[in-house]
Amino acid sequence: MALTPVIFLLALCLSSVVSSSSAGSPRLNFTSMFTLGDSYIDTGNFVIMAAPVIPVWIDKPPYGMTFFGRPTGRTSDGRAIIDFMAKAFGLPFLPASLANSSDVSRGVNFAVGGATAIDVGFFERNKLVPFKLLNNSLDVQLGWFEDLRPSICNTTERSCGECFSKSLFVVGEFGVNDYTFHLMANKTKSQVMAFVPKVVRTIASAVERLIVRDGAAHVVVPGNPPIGCSPALLTLLRPRSPSAAADYDRIGCLRGVNDVARHHNALLHAAVGGLRAKHPKATIIFADFYTPVRQILENPSQFGVVSDVLKACCGTGGAYNWNASAVCGMPGVAACANPSAYVNWDGVHFTEAVNRYVAEGWLYGPYADPPILKAMRP
Ligand SMILES: *[C@@H]1O[C@H](CO)[C@@H](O)[C@H](O)[C@H]1NC(C)=O
Ligand SMILES: *[C@@H]1O[C@H](CO)[C@@H](O)[C@H](O)[C@H]1NC(C)=O
Ligand SMILES: *[C@@H]1O[C@H](CO)[C@@H](O)[C@H](O)[C@H]1NC(C)=O
Ligand SMILES: *[C@@H]1O[C@H](CO)[C@@H](O)[C@H](O)[C@H]1NC(C)=O
Ligand SMILES: *[C@@H]1O[C@H](CO)[C@@H](O)[C@H](O)[C@H]1NC(C)=O
Ligand SMILES: *[C@@H]1O[C@H](CO)[C@@H](O)[C@H](O)[C@H]1NC(C)=O
Repeated sequence: MALTPVIFLLALCLSSVVSSSSAGSPRLNFTSMFTLGDSYIDTGNFVIMAAPVIPVWIDKPPYGMTFFGRPTGRTSDGRAIIDFMAKAFGLPFLPASLANSSDVSRGVNFAVGGATAIDVGFFERNKLVPFKLLNNSLDVQLGWFEDLRPSICNTTERSCGECFSKSLFVVGEFGVNDYTFHLMANKTKSQVMAFVPKVVRTIASAVERLIVRDGAAHVVVPGNPPIGCSPALLTLLRPRSPSAAADYDRIGCLRGVNDVARHHNALLHAAVGGLRAKHPKATIIFADFYTPVRQILENPSQFGVVSDVLKACCGTGGAYNWNASAVCGMPGVAACANPSAYVNWDGVHFTEAVNRYVAEGWLYGPYADPPILKAMRP
């Protein structure tokens, strides 16, 4: 007699397992997304912040030519990686935080082009940059999130954790701008390498602050892409490293610069492991931004890339179709006819086709540890 309810419960559990794993059944989705980072995922903050103080070109055509049909502040011909992620969860495009959107309940994007992990005062004080930086580093973006938090959930600290328990946080990519400023200041490879642990510690402590103070339960931490393959850095650094063949790998990327990115990724992945051990209730995902881009660079034809993989789609002249004095968005600078045949969009950022491939690799695998869709704890 007492067996009946047990069996009944067992049957219920089995049937729910079967139905949730059967094809076509709706899976659980994150209810919102909050993203921090730099130009790779900016959806409009840089234009709002920079346009009043410096000339800006990413708000001009042909930016947005493939998807939106107009510039949106994204640094691509179409969607950014986080746009594909939001779509997978049935969420709208994330508004840029500085646009003061009236609806932030399903997420906001705090990422700004040019953002560093380390606070901007560091680069200015140490004369690493010959100009004033926008104050948009990781800690500033965290501050923006914390300022906005009351309008997202009107609760006490404790239940605010519940408010964000079904939200997905993305912290990164960070580091590319920190390292680029060092490289442009003629720092040697070993000097840049020595700076990596400080950058990684800063990212890891931001992730920890989101978990401990803000109640984040799912955090994606992307690493750096192979920036030694970017047309802009290839062009800018070429005259400074009077090109010994050994400076370039077999594709033609800058070996030393990519070594920095790989070192960063190895330390960041290890730091994520450390955070997981310390905060077992949180799901912390390391997202590999290096391997998927490298895959395309090494096997372009498999991805429909028929151009020279190191040339920008939108740019002018030189070995990499990139010139600092005539960049994409300036009058007279044209884009290629088919951006999806290219890896790089504007000399620094990727085409929408690459962004989609990276996003899918993070969502479904194999480029995230663990893949985001397998990581959600309802
Ligand atoms: C999650 O979002 C996807 C994509 O929009 C949708 O197909 C699916 O039905 C959603 N699942 C739930 C449980 O709402
Ligand atoms: C957003 O709101 C702030 C504070 O009220 C204001 O200073 C800023 O100009 C607004 N930005 C935009 C893009 O409307
Ligand atoms: C950047 O902004 C933060 C917070 O708004 C402030 O504490 C910091 O002093 C600013 N840094 C610089 C270099 O202006
Ligand atoms: C939270 O409270 C403030 C002030 O009372 C209100 O303006 C805002 O709309 C509320 N937000 C939500 C998400 O309920
Ligand atoms: C870096 O080196 C290049 C080439 O030697 C030189 O032209 C440039 O002024 C240097 N930049 C800085 C910031 O020292
Ligand atoms: C870069 O563009 C500027 C402005 O159009 C031009 O004067 C210069 O010659 C170009 N440099 C190269 C290397 O093509």
